[in-house]
Amino acid sequence: MPSDNRRVLISSEQIQARVREMAEQIDSDYPADPIYLISILKGSFIFLADLARALKRHSVRIEFMGISSYGNQKTSSGQVKVTRDLDANIEGQNVLIVEDIIDSGVTLSYLTRVLQQRRPKSLEIATLLDKPERRIQPVQVKYVGFKIPDEFVVGYGLDYAEDYRNLSDICVLAESQ
Ligand code: IMP
Ligand code: MG
Repeated sequence: MPSDNRRVLISSEQIQARVREMAEQIDSDYPADPIYLISILKGSFIFLADLARALKRHSVRIEFMGISSYGNQKTSSGQVKVTRDLDANIEGQNVLIVEDIIDSGVTLSYLTRVLQQRRPKSLEIATLLDKPERRIQPVQVKYVGFKIPDEFVVGYGLDYAEDYRNLSDICVLAESQ
């Protein structure tokens, strides 16, 4: 295996505890069923799986949306496109976008505009990670797991060139020497 330099930024235990807290908050904010969780592929699939299971209600509906704004680079291309759309009609529904990380905000500001046009009853965002220093487009985020510094992170669904998504911890990937 190629060697790599990585250090744990947020441990699996810290993530699990925070995800449970976020789920409790969401359960109390949305007393009425159902709630639609929209996972933004691919990075949020592990967060979505843990968050969905931590919710106590029975009507948690899962949808997937594919958006691409990054190639295999560590910086945004600035281009956003929908690569996979929802199956469900979300008109009149409570919708929670589940994202792995908000960086520039370009992806989510585009996505909230697209989804708002479908007239959901409510539309909010839950992100596991937020890099507020990097924001170039404003985004209203209701649930944030952790605010992190401007470092490139991998693990718990997040990738670098499609690798590292399977790590249980969130790690900082140092440049190779
Ligand atoms: P934004 O449009 O710049 O907010 O980018 C959001 C997307 O960029 C996320 O959903 C991730 O897929 C990707 N991204 C941003 N920062 C990181 C990072 O540190 N590690 C891995 N992916 C990242
Ligand atoms: Mg993503």
